[in-house]
Amino acid sequence: MKVSAPATIANFGPGFDVFGLCLEKPMDVIEVKLADEVEVKVEGYEVPEDPSRNVASVSALSLLGEVGVESGFKMKIKKGIRPTSGLGSSGASALGGALAIAKLLGVEDKETILRAALEGEKVASGTPHGDNVVPALFGGFVVLNSLFPLNVVKIDVKLKLVVVLPEVKVSTKKARELLPKYVPLRDAVKNLALASSLVLALEEGDIEEAGRLLDDYLAIPYRKPLIAWFDKVRRAALENGAYGLSISGSGPAVFALGDNLKEIGKAVVEAFEEEGIKAEYFISGVGGG
Ligand code: HSE
Repeated sequence: MKVSAPATIANFGPGFDVFGLCLEKPMDVIEVKLADEVEVKVEGYEVPEDPSRNVASVSALSLLGEVGVESGFKMKIKKGIRPTSGLGSSGASALGGALAIAKLLGVEDKETILRAALEGEKVASGTPHGDNVVPALFGGFVVLNSLFPLNVVKIDVKLKLVVVLPEVKVSTKKARELLPKYVPLRDAVKNLALASSLVLALEEGDIEEAGRLLDDYLAIPYRKPLIAWFDKVRRAALENGAYGLSISGSGPAVFALGDNLKEIGKAVVEAFEEEGIKAEYFISGVGGG
């Protein structure tokens, strides 16, 4: 059984741990067949082949446990999403591992698949968060109301965006450790206003307005020590016609909405390079999950 699991943009501006957008590319491809032993082989970006540390196999084992099937498997992973990039690399592998086994066994219940996928996600990021695995499964733009019981609102938004991937690593685990337990009420109120307006703008297909609403007061300000270049690259994007720019997940990837996505991409790459950081950009549409 072979499945592909796409990259995703978690948070999508003000939606910390709640909003997620599925991208068309890049993606991981995961192939499994049942076997006596558990064996994992990886091509592409480097991730552990040790089954207890590989997020896809942890998810796959968890799914087998959930449905009470005693079996091992042989798993081949083509790792197309760079780890620690902010593009939901661990989320994609975690979902892919669970989904491949689910398809093999004819398990269709999304909650069961997500429960197993979150076990893999937990290995990578410490706390299980659903804003990568859920959009990778559903496609489109999702609002994650609740994981268990599963309650997801999906908007089939059509847009193109530019993603800039700098050659620095940000560990989601560390980025989450920087977050405070409590935030000032005025910041919570600002995010509430941004998030609800953003959902409306996306529902109406008003991408320009959506871009203007990509601010965040809950996570990004506290993560600045890991992303010191953020204000500079954001300014470069806005000066080159972007409607808005934000961090993808916990970073370091950033994404921007705008008309002239190539020019924005080039300007942001240059801004990174001025900081001594190599970067590359790509343009993607919304993926179908
Ligand atoms: N919502 C998560 C975070 C996404 O920002 O920590 C991580 O990819």
